[in-house]
Amino acid sequence: MDPLSQIYKLIGSEEPYFRLVDEFYAGVEESFVLRPLYPEKLDNAKRSLALFLIQRTGGRTTYSDEKGHPRMRARHMPFAIGQAERDAWIVCMNKALDNTPEFVPVRKDLDAFFDHFATFMINKAN
Ligand code: HEM
Repeated sequence: MDPLSQIYKLIGSEEPYFRLVDEFYAGVEESFVLRPLYPEKLDNAKRSLALFLIQRTGGRTTYSDEKGHPRMRARHMPFAIGQAERDAWIVCMNKALDNTPEFVPVRKDLDAFFDHFATFMINKAN
């Protein structure tokens, strides 16, 4: 069984996901590496990431209902993502997870997922 798809049930509600994403984007706002990649207003990016994570972990499927198949690698192609951007993303996500205690029990699975997925998003040599 895919352990990721069990996470939503364990977390039990969407509120911690939206808090996690707020924390994550607070880190992006401070990052000299990541901030220039994102649009000025982060509202849409926040909502998309929260809905994607909710869906991927077994919650409602609004992300794909609205946008179709995630095609995450293709969606990231317009942004130049090298090792430095990947590492900065992971630093922001780890900090956000550290600040969102609800995710402690599922941290091992989430860390493995983000680690792998962020590497998969790399689309340029440094
Ligand atoms: C590896 C470093 C990464 C960088 C530099 C990066 C950067 C970006 C940027 C610039 C956007 C566009 C935001 C916007 O236009 O509003 C975006 C969108 C998004 N990213 Fe990433 N990303 C990374 C990794 C990841 C990972 C690992 C995930 C999920 C685990 C993820 C999930 C998403 C989602 C769901 C969207 C919204 C896509 C859409 O629906 O249009 N990203 N990302």
